[in-house]
Amino acid sequence: MTKDNISRSARQLIFNILRFDPHLKGDRPRMERFEIEESSGMTLFIALNDIRRNHDASLKFDFVCRAGICGSCAMVINGKPGLACHTLTASLDTEITLAPLPVFELIGDLSVYTGNWMRGLNERLETWIHEQEEHDFTRIEEPMEPDLADEIYELDRCIECGCCIAGCGTVQMREEFIGAVGLNKIARYQLDPRDKRSDEDYYDLIGDEDGVFGCMTLLGCEDVCPKNLPLQSKIAYLRRKMLKIGLKSPKKICF
Ligand code: SF4
Ligand code: SF4
Ligand code: FES
Repeated sequence: MTKDNISRSARQLIFNILRFDPHLKGDRPRMERFEIEESSGMTLFIALNDIRRNHDASLKFDFVCRAGICGSCAMVINGKPGLACHTLTASLDTEITLAPLPVFELIGDLSVYTGNWMRGLNERLETWIHEQEEHDFTRIEEPMEPDLADEIYELDRCIECGCCIAGCGTVQMREEFIGAVGLNKIARYQLDPRDKRSDEDYYDLIGDEDGVFGCMTLLGCEDVCPKNLPLQSKIAYLRRKMLKIGLKSPKKICF
């Protein structure tokens, strides 16, 4: 084999995957090893399908869009939360470790149920536009400044993948902590002029240790957010705003 052929020959990838099905009686968590040949442009989505097709049809993992939009393929990749459909194997070493996201309910292997956690969060933070008057569907929509609409859209790009929750130290200590995903949602509604909630209303939602004052600002969330949301600046902004309200209110501020 020539030097050129050797450099172009496909890499052998070794996957160490955390396997466990909590619904299977007697099953125990264990690492399982699979070896596959890397192909050009291979993502972890393709690699996992290869493993399922050629090695173990029982391997559980989630995918819907394969385009970084649905958020369902989030998992812990070599110790860091990320989207499997957006991760090229070429960007990783030949030995790859995969585990399910912590915090969320485990369905089995790499598949977790983020839906109920996110639904609970959305209900708790009331993540919808709060109007004062009854909505009139015949009324023409009010225009919005394009720059403001862009700013809101930027925060609306959250895909609820759960990576920021899995990478957050506070969530590990405080089960009720809303995390960067929750704080980002409040920042989004607080920007929206159609939402008539006051800063005091938002304080009631996030002005405690399960909200903005629980955040340790170590910014693991921003490091792992696959949509590159400006979590750092939004959390800092909310913290300043809520602190001002807290200092005016008789409520005790917790740090
Ligand atoms: S900055 Fe706050 S929300 Fe983000 S990971 Fe750290 S504690 Fe969690
Ligand atoms: S803020 Fe980023 S990491 Fe967190 S759920 Fe939304 S998209 Fe995922
Ligand atoms: S499959 Fe939808 S984000 Fe990866």
